[in-house]
Amino acid sequence: MKYHIVTYGCQMNLHESEKIAGVLQEAGYSSPAPMEEADIIVFNTCCIRENAENHAFGNIGALKKLKREKKGLLIAVGGCMVQEEGKAALLKQKFPFIDILFGTHNLSELKSLIETKRARKKFVLSLLEERGETEDGIRPVRTSYPNAWVNIMYGCNNFCSYCIVPYVRGREISRREEDILREVEALVGEGYKEITLLGQNVDSYRGERGNFAALLDAVASVEGNFRVRFMTSHPKDFSEELVAVMKKHDKICKHLHLPVQAGSDRILRLMNRRYTREKYLEDLRLLRREIPDCEVTTDLIVAFPTETEEEFEETLSLVEEADFSSAFTFIFSPRTGTRAAAMEGRIADDVAKERITRLVALVNEKTREKSARYVGKTVEILCEDFDEKKKMYMGRDEYGRMGYFFSDRDRIGEFVDLKITEANGISLYGTPV
Ligand code: SAH
Ligand code: SF4
Ligand code: F3S
Repeated sequence: MKYHIVTYGCQMNLHESEKIAGVLQEAGYSSPAPMEEADIIVFNTCCIRENAENHAFGNIGALKKLKREKKGLLIAVGGCMVQEEGKAALLKQKFPFIDILFGTHNLSELKSLIETKRARKKFVLSLLEERGETEDGIRPVRTSYPNAWVNIMYGCNNFCSYCIVPYVRGREISRREEDILREVEALVGEGYKEITLLGQNVDSYRGERGNFAALLDAVASVEGNFRVRFMTSHPKDFSEELVAVMKKHDKICKHLHLPVQAGSDRILRLMNRRYTREKYLEDLRLLRREIPDCEVTTDLIVAFPTETEEEFEETLSLVEEADFSSAFTFIFSPRTGTRAAAMEGRIADDVAKERITRLVALVNEKTREKSARYVGKTVEILCEDFDEKKKMYMGRDEYGRMGYFFSDRDRIGEFVDLKITEANGISLYGTPV
């Protein structure tokens, strides 16, 4: 028996799909396969923005025919969308052929849900209000060698006014430091070269011995030849202690993803972000004083309710001042149940589109400028994949920049020094030296 998993959303969800694969293998599904050949198809959904949901709705709907034709095929839908108020019922109503609906708080239960479904042939549903476990018992089937994701915490307590994550992922809970360290040691022992610590809000980590900085210090102190990354930090929790730990360890990538969201203090307040533009810029100055070549990336939202043209321009000027190496940009998407969804002053679609087009153009221009400066330099990349289209190997440097090169032997999992000969947008091209 074979499985197929479709994943939407963030790195957290990608890693969750690796855990789902682990549970499926325990349940007797031996290996992954294309959708048409699978005996179970699992959708791991995301609901952060409306288009993420529409995507999933479309793809699940498209399975109706396959489900009718293939006897015994199971269809399971899990992830954040299922955890959203009323969405499980809607999914079942729209797609009666779904066999299993499961939430985000009880992954390890999936095995028994599958068994129940197989035995009773009846639809099964499992949703929990709050997380009951830290998933330490699940062995993920990792698919991203030489990178490995490691959860350090789950959930979020921040309630940014636009965001649905706290509603679908529940309250923050941290894994035990010992369990995290043991997992990292095992991964390094197995040859993984990059460990990414994952949390909706890593700065809120609370372990037996201390905060996130202490955990990061301990992880980076594990013996071996590997890099450490972490996601995501919240500017309100930025600390000198974290910078000191980043500075102390060569293993920690000189890259901080620090979502700022907006450049206007009034909008930041409406977003419930709990920092100001000036405080954010001040923190970046401190970071760069201590680690001059540290790269910063960010997330930005345009067209938050009531955002004026001037306030949007403050986001543009912040992009200039903060000197981001790249940014994810989004149009505000109202999510039912969040405070922002109930706010007046929605921005018209055409205005929102016009703003994001300008923002993307600026971000791309900055990224290109930074890329151009790479030409002639040598950077160390961790080779992580082979690009079938380009017929080139690829990997990222510690700043997160993607580099491509030709090689007649497999270099995946190796650190490669690349002399950069060409820069194109966000991608670099070079030759190994
Ligand atoms: N916990 C992480 C990830 C949150 S989701 C963090 O706090 O950064 C990733 C990004 O999606 C957010 O940083 C934000 O920029 C964007 N986002 C979240 N909700 C959104 C919404 N309703 N509309 C548009 N963008 C949203
Ligand atoms: Fe959402 Fe804010 Fe939590 Fe990030 S910190 S997950 S944006 S509520
Ligand atoms: Fe991630 Fe989407 Fe859920 S961004 S936490 S999968 S809502």
